[in-house]
Amino acid sequence: MVKSMFDILRELDAKRAAARAGGGERRVAAQHAKGKLTARERIEVLLDPDSFEEWDMFVEHRCGDFGMDARKVPGDGVVTGYGTINGRLMFVFSQDFTVFGGSLSEAHAEKICKIMDHAVKVGAPVIGLNDSGGARIQEGVASLRGYAEVFQRNVLASGVIPQVSVIMGPCAGGAVYSPAMTDFIFMVRDSSYMFVTGPDVVRTVTHEEVTAEQLGGALTHTTKSGVADLAFDNDISALMMVRRLMNFLPSSNREMPPVQPTSDPADRLEPSLDSLVPDDPNESYDIKELILKVVDDWEFLELRPDYARNIVTGFARMAGRPVGIVANQPLVLAGCLDVRSAVKAAGFVRFCDAFGIPIVTFVDVPGFMPGSEQEHGGIIKDGAKLLFAYAECTVPKVTVITRKAYGGAYDVMSSKHLRGDVNFAWPSAEIAVMGPKGAVEIIFRADADDAERISERAEDYAGKFANPFVAGHRGFIDDVIMPRATRKRICRSLSMLRDKRLENPWRKHNTMPL
Ligand code: HXC
Repeated sequence: MVKSMFDILRELDAKRAAARAGGGERRVAAQHAKGKLTARERIEVLLDPDSFEEWDMFVEHRCGDFGMDARKVPGDGVVTGYGTINGRLMFVFSQDFTVFGGSLSEAHAEKICKIMDHAVKVGAPVIGLNDSGGARIQEGVASLRGYAEVFQRNVLASGVIPQVSVIMGPCAGGAVYSPAMTDFIFMVRDSSYMFVTGPDVVRTVTHEEVTAEQLGGALTHTTKSGVADLAFDNDISALMMVRRLMNFLPSSNREMPPVQPTSDPADRLEPSLDSLVPDDPNESYDIKELILKVVDDWEFLELRPDYARNIVTGFARMAGRPVGIVANQPLVLAGCLDVRSAVKAAGFVRFCDAFGIPIVTFVDVPGFMPGSEQEHGGIIKDGAKLLFAYAECTVPKVTVITRKAYGGAYDVMSSKHLRGDVNFAWPSAEIAVMGPKGAVEIIFRADADDAERISERAEDYAGKFANPFVAGHRGFIDDVIMPRATRKRICRSLSMLRDKRLENPWRKHNTMPL
């Protein structure tokens, strides 16, 4: 019997409904009971209303073992396609935990690969919403191949399009390595975790008792390991932050970052900054106050705020254009550079450079953190990563030294000598090889036991060197500026640098210290 068009359309509707139902009502209810949205609900929150165009809804797995041929769910545990965020094109995959625990089959991986390939082709970001029990156990090695295909694409897309991962459920074993190779990782508190080996394996191998949350929850990864950038209380706030993040990023490395008009005047003065740096050089202050007061509309999206807090990194806008901010934080470890802060900032600088986002650096750094913990932890190589990142980077670089810029750390923090384009200092800046007391104790070692003499000499040394003018005499500082005028001077510098062209010599790739 020939089917009528009506019947054909009804069949299509039924097929679509089956795919949309995912793992069925019971599993959807279980997902909701855990405080989690479903894969499709997440996409609805993430993208502009009615903008999602779904692909591969009818894809099914090809596994015949363990009775799997009788268990097929159209879509096979991942929803893929594209849509928009504030009108800009984004590709998305969202794993559906209600279908085989969101586990990755070969077909599931092929769906992810397809959207990744398109994203690179057209130059648009990929956002991955991860909620998966890992490799589809029934498929074995076919699933492992699927992961590796995704990994390969993560690597080739790196620095070409922004890649963002949101961890919204389990993410374990080798599955962690796809998010790990993306640019940003967000996690949801209490419902997500990431680890290479879970608590049971840990117990067997090391006899350590640890819960999944302690081992790889959102708190762990945003405070201890630095694997994740931000943690959120629920799915909705994590997804809303992805939308906000995307407003700072270009769609690809072929595009300029998006401009957002602002009513905040580029020449706005901020008199309160004149008294930000305390009179006592050993007293601290909050560098975030400076950041908030100089950027457009007080809007600063800080990344990794609870990890290596001695350095602050994040996005803001100046005169409507996105900038990456890197700033030493005097409130934590006096703003010293150490293993964690150097690597944190290096990764951020490299991201900005890859995507044409200018870098504004605020410097108040007494040096590298001393001690065997740091030396044995590899501060030599890790400190070099930040130096390397700043030195190779070709985007506009504007630097403001607010107070201390001592020793090697002065050089590292986007100094003139590492091709800093515009380098300002506040009148309170102290640019020297080291702090006055340390300096005279070395030069006048014979007087080391005479506290009074050392203090006199330190004062003398401070008078001579603890100021911005010695560096200014050599042109290492382009100008000594009034703190209140910081926003105006940075905005002007960035505007002057808008058409900056600078290229590094050709090479296959560098051999940065890893
Ligand atoms: C197939 C899976 C699955 C998997 C879960 N399910 N994980 N199916 N392959 N990997 C299915 C379950 O059978 C179940 O099906 C449904 O998903 C929900 O799972 P539950 O266990 O009921 O849920 P929950 O109690 O919330 O526990 C979630 C979980 C657990 C912690 C993720 O399911 C789990 O431990 N799964 C196995 C994890 C794992 O070992 N994965 C392989 C890791 S190795 P029904 O039909 O009952 O709803 C790996 C290598 C990657 O991933 C290598 C990359 C290079």
